[in-house]
Amino acid sequence: MYQILISYHNLMRWFVLASLILAIYRAYRGYVTKAIFSKMDNTIRHWTATIAHIQLMIGMTLYFHSPIVKYFMQHFKEAFSRLEMTFFSLIHSTLMLVAIVLITIGSAKSKRQTTDSEKFRTMLVWFSVSLLLIFMAIPWPFSPFSHRPYFR
Ligand code: HEM
Repeated sequence: MYQILISYHNLMRWFVLASLILAIYRAYRGYVTKAIFSKMDNTIRHWTATIAHIQLMIGMTLYFHSPIVKYFMQHFKEAFSRLEMTFFSLIHSTLMLVAIVLITIGSAKSKRQTTDSEKFRTMLVWFSVSLLLIFMAIPWPFSPFSHRPYFR
């Protein structure tokens, strides 16, 4: 179960990043060129939030199956000083949760805006901040906190 979850969670990161980057690109282009907020833009907004929610579900399930998190919970005092344990048990999970909340708020706010320009601008701002957080919290092979492979 744990191996399946971690493989999906690893792979899903690429869908989260690709959809966010596409949504930010469309929002930037639409805002700058004063374009119409098309059906395609709306679909991209919707799917970006949905993909992030799927990753959230996998991440939360993984959290309760992870041997790292289990060890951290059981040996809190000792494990707190070990960077990888603190990273996954507290930092990664909290930052990702915040990032997905930002995507959710941004998506909902953008949907409710009355002008196309405001829709693009709202999506651009909220999704960009979220992308920054996600990028910092991913355990890239070059990350100073914890290194995990690009694919499993
Ligand atoms: C946009 C959201 C997220 C992205 C892009 C993301 C990405 C990743 C990646 C790339 C890994 C390394 C996987 C591997 O070892 O191959 C990982 C590990 C992990 N993630 Fe996430 N994650 C996200 C959200 C979350 C959330 C919301 C939680 C929990 C509430 C979570 C919990 C974990 C845990 C516990 C591990 C480590 C499991 C272990 O090694 O035992 N993640 N995440």
